[in-house]
Amino acid sequence: MNQVRKAVFPVGGLGTRFLPATKASPKEMMPIVDKPLIQYAVEEAVAAGMSDMIFVTGRTKRAIEDHFDKAYELEGELALRRKTETLEFVRNLLPRHIHCIYIRQAEALGLGHAILCAKPAVGDEPFAVLLADDLIDGEPPVMKQMTEVFDYYRCSVIGVQDVPRVETGSYGIVRTAPVADRLERIEAIVEKPKPEEAPTTLGVVGRYILTPRVFRHLENLIPGSGGEIQLTDGIAALLREEQVLAHRYRGTRYDCGAKLGYLKATVEFGLRHPEVGAEFTRYLGQLAFQDPA
Ligand code: G1P
Repeated sequence: MNQVRKAVFPVGGLGTRFLPATKASPKEMMPIVDKPLIQYAVEEAVAAGMSDMIFVTGRTKRAIEDHFDKAYELEGELALRRKTETLEFVRNLLPRHIHCIYIRQAEALGLGHAILCAKPAVGDEPFAVLLADDLIDGEPPVMKQMTEVFDYYRCSVIGVQDVPRVETGSYGIVRTAPVADRLERIEAIVEKPKPEEAPTTLGVVGRYILTPRVFRHLENLIPGSGGEIQLTDGIAALLREEQVLAHRYRGTRYDCGAKLGYLKATVEFGLRHPEVGAEFTRYLGQLAFQDPA
């Protein structure tokens, strides 16, 4: 089986937890300091050696297409004002060998359906899925850690982490058997179980490498949890015929689909930012000593 060259980014969700910010633009365009979430995810896929970026977009697709496209007017203005450094930066958001492909998901029928929409662009090869609202700070980047697992074991790999039991209803949850350090074989997977019904507290995060066989299962699914076609259910069916591994990644995940996770990521990335980090650190220090009354 070949190397993982293609990355799928489902970006057609409604982003209801961030309304009104997401009324007219996708949640994946929300910035952490100065870079939109989707760009962090694309950079992670590029760092893992992928070259085809497949965006499955919804009603607010324009902003993402424009973000990775050539910006004639902006570039013209920057050139006129001799802002050479900024111009180069805007021009080279992505390395030249990267292709961007956009597919429209006409109806928001769930994550599994979004992935199925990417099938014509993926074809018959293994591919990655990255959910951009899961921002993961890892070294090496998490998708790179996962392609290393794929290159060795040649089967689907899913990123996982332990979650508090009260939160199992927000995640795909897996039951596993040990294989190697940080690596387990998935025996069962269930979407968003109630805490009292969850088989374990090992939660799926938004990073997957999947074999193309999963499309066959997604095609045959009926809507599951929340009335949606769930990727988790496709993986549950895949498990019956192929090995699927769970990788406990090394890194820190910020759930940027929720306000608190988004704020934490903003603060952490702000503290480290080359331009504003030092001053922001001082500012937060002062805030911490202020009397809340
Ligand atoms: C999706 C998946 C879920 C996974 C989660 C990770 O849920 O369906 O299995 O655990 O992403 O962020 P969503 O957060 O889109 O509801």
